[in-house]
Amino acid sequence: MKGCIFDLDGVIVDTAKYHYLAWKKIADEFGFVFTEKDNERLKGVSRMASLDILLSIGGVHLSEGEKLQVADKKNEIYLGYILKMTPDEVLPGVLTFLKTLRDQGIKISLGSASKNAKTILHQVGIENLFDAVADGTNVSKAKPDPEVFLKGAELLNLSPADCVVFEDARAGIEAAHRAGMKCVGIGDSVTLREADIVVGGFLDLSIEKGKLKIINNGEILNF
Ligand code: BG6
Ligand code: MG
Repeated sequence: MKGCIFDLDGVIVDTAKYHYLAWKKIADEFGFVFTEKDNERLKGVSRMASLDILLSIGGVHLSEGEKLQVADKKNEIYLGYILKMTPDEVLPGVLTFLKTLRDQGIKISLGSASKNAKTILHQVGIENLFDAVADGTNVSKAKPDPEVFLKGAELLNLSPADCVVFEDARAGIEAAHRAGMKCVGIGDSVTLREADIVVGGFLDLSIEKGKLKIINNGEILNF
């Protein structure tokens, strides 16, 4: 493992809740119910693809122009939340994990579908910990396409096989595997069962001599 590539939403910060609130406001205005369970289908999915899923849930049909307007509106609502984010919203254990990677000479990239990624990293004060950012501004194909992770590896000047991905979405795990990378699932072990290993969060992980270690059982991963 020479490089680590991190998804953003749900891995570094819990912005999934802000995406949900913003999409819910749109659904409310159209007059249909959008639940947290529905929101699972939007995780890791690009903004326009998320809108298509949302509209299919509500049975709403819009022209391409109308869709762009609704997507812009959702993003304005979302920005209202993320521009209030503070460094204490970085998820538990992430900061120590990122700093340990740096100390041990392992390169770090972001690998996110979001066009707001840099704004969020800046808002929570961790942009300096990243050697590269692959996000919705320099990548066009959404996960499960591997493009975002291949871009992350390329920006780090590493071959894909030397990179490990950290993901909370099934589409992201598939994207990592299609990129030829191992994937650590962050979250629920049933939902993320396709990952090479699943942990609840970064407090469950440490780095020892450049290798990942599961804290509770001392297992060292041969990634
Ligand atoms: C992903 C989120 O990281 O980014 C998705 O998991 C979101 O829920 C996507 O739709 C695009 O984000 P943004 O910020 O460009 O609308
Ligand atoms: Mg995610």
